[in-house]
Amino acid sequence: MELLKQGAEAKLWEDEGFLIKERIKKNYRIDEIDNKLRKTRTRKEAKLLEKSHSLINVPKLYNVDEKSMTITMEFVHGDLVKNVFDELNERIRVNLCVDMGKQIAELHNNNIVHGDLTTSNMILNKDKLFFFDFGLGFESLRVEDKAVDLHLLRQTFESKHYLHSEKAFDSVLRGYSAKGDKNAVERLKKVEGRGRYK
Ligand SMILES: Nc1ncnc2c1ncn2[C@@H]1O[C@H](COP(=O)(O)OP(=O)(O)OP(=O)(O)O)[C@@H](O)[C@H]1O
Ligand SMILES: [Mg+2]
Repeated sequence: MELLKQGAEAKLWEDEGFLIKERIKKNYRIDEIDNKLRKTRTRKEAKLLEKSHSLINVPKLYNVDEKSMTITMEFVHGDLVKNVFDELNERIRVNLCVDMGKQIAELHNNNIVHGDLTTSNMILNKDKLFFFDFGLGFESLRVEDKAVDLHLLRQTFESKHYLHSEKAFDSVLRGYSAKGDKNAVERLKKVEGRGRYK
């Protein structure tokens, strides 16, 4: 087993084609609360991963263990979108963004809000775009929640990929509008207009 990453919340291991995500103990939290939180988040992430699998490209879920607070899923090969986005050929980047928008719309149509749409939570496997890290995700019927999900993605584009952000995000919205709820796009304009989430 090889440790890939130790984040603030989780350790990620690779083991023979599997990715194991272990939610680690936070010492500043009271044990009982810490256990409860990690258990809920592990369960929630696994549930969203499973639900999303029939809708969009996400790693396949193999196992959830609430005792060890681990999720075992498919290891997706490829590049983190964050690392390749700016270097992609323009046409390929635009197509990727349209697809990104379509997949996000598919999630939202099924009332799944990802909660952390950044290019660090997407992998490009050949020309296939995968989404992961549903740790902050939730289910919601609210147009507002979907608009905020999109807004966070725009913010990532602006901060991490500013050279391409405008055209790229327009392409995301094009893909989103083709499949999803136009009200969410309308609401996005309001969300961004009023500055609450800036
Ligand atoms: N299924 C997977 N296949 C391949 N690599 C993965 C997979 N899941 C995660 N990774 C790698 O591990 C890194 C961290 O994963 P992830 O984003 O799920 O955790 P995190 O952001 O540290 O945790 P959290 O947001 O839950 O606190 C990713 O950036 C990616 O490089
Ligand atoms: Mg992440």
